[in-house]
Amino acid sequence: MKRRIQQLSHTLMLGLCIGIGSSCTPKLGNTIVEDNMMFAQLQLRVAFDEIDYARTNESPESREKREKNCWGELTNPRNSEPDGSLHLVPSKDWTSGFFPGELWYIYEYTQNNFWKKKAQQHTDMLEQEKMNGKTHDMGFKMYCSYGNGYRLTQDERYKEILLQSARTLATRFKPAAGIIRSWDHNKNKWQCPVIIDNMMNLELLFWATRESGDSTYYNIAVNHARTTLKNHFRPDYSCYHVIDYDTITGNVLKKNTHQGLSHESAWSRGQAWALYGYTMCYRETKLPEFLQQAQKVEEYLFNHPHMPADLVPYWDFDAPNIPNEPRDASAASVIASALYELSLYDTENAEKYQKQADRIIENLAKNYRSDMGQNNGFLLLHSTGTKPSNTEVDVPIVYADYYFIEALIRKDKLEKTGKLF
Ligand code: GLY
Repeated sequence: MKRRIQQLSHTLMLGLCIGIGSSCTPKLGNTIVEDNMMFAQLQLRVAFDEIDYARTNESPESREKREKNCWGELTNPRNSEPDGSLHLVPSKDWTSGFFPGELWYIYEYTQNNFWKKKAQQHTDMLEQEKMNGKTHDMGFKMYCSYGNGYRLTQDERYKEILLQSARTLATRFKPAAGIIRSWDHNKNKWQCPVIIDNMMNLELLFWATRESGDSTYYNIAVNHARTTLKNHFRPDYSCYHVIDYDTITGNVLKKNTHQGLSHESAWSRGQAWALYGYTMCYRETKLPEFLQQAQKVEEYLFNHPHMPADLVPYWDFDAPNIPNEPRDASAASVIASALYELSLYDTENAEKYQKQADRIIENLAKNYRSDMGQNNGFLLLHSTGTKPSNTEVDVPIVYADYYFIEALIRKDKLEKTGKLF
């Protein structure tokens, strides 16, 4: 009850007249961008209270597990659990950078120092990850947080942290196979697993070459993107989730899934990572093969008979009980953000891409948004993390919100300046 009162006081403090107690949220701005960016500011203020509450009320089992494994303090939100509680993660979790990334985007949009300070606080919690060479998730963690922070502040300390993060990520490159190793877990199942998600971590490496002048990072990123293009995709341009490599011969050992329905199915967020990843690789390299790959993935997605009318995918395009399957709003957010960028590079289809992205964010805003003051301050409902293990099914997840805000900011910039970068 006390937390609910705090949440409402945030809303009132902002001088907004809202229908407290009703389930609908009034319009907060004149455009979809204004409306949702205002909504995001209100929700993130709620999130700050929920984070404090979750930190002080951590269960003894969770604390014991964290201490036993030396995981360090709880940092940022990851998702709402089905019982409504907030799941906070230590810095090593692959999702720890998205919340600070959201705060940086809000600062960019509002230019209000309140958000800058909050973004700095939630970013600073992650510094130790720059030395964590045990996963490939460095880009997700550090580029969304420190990367946005550096872009907006030019803080030299952030630059050093990002360069160290890139050095650490580069240690996972396996030259004979031409890929960056993704996971170290499940060693009995895979020798050297690479997941399509790993395309997203390359942005940090491209940045590191630009900033340091050392082409090593660029070469690793291009190598990884080319090997992934060769081995991760099927003839219809859908992609596998996990490819297992022999690190001595470079041969492909297995084509698997981990979070999708089956090895041969099309896990929705994986397709979204592919679209975003190759669009970003084209931005960084101007290599036509990467643009073509992004175009083909877009064609696969938008011609798929199981793409719903509202363009918010089911968790897997081959899920057996469509239309009675959980959606994945996070896949939709990633796709929307990627399409705004793709519209810059494929000008013949620019209008089509922008319209698709507009439809996605309109539908997310209309039918997938949390009620104000609810859901631990998350923005979007109905994301699915890992359906096969029944983890994070049909719940709010932080990366859906991060890419939703990014997509809104991209739409705003495109409309105002015709540019994104
Ligand atoms: N990178 C893990 C996921 O997309 O769930």
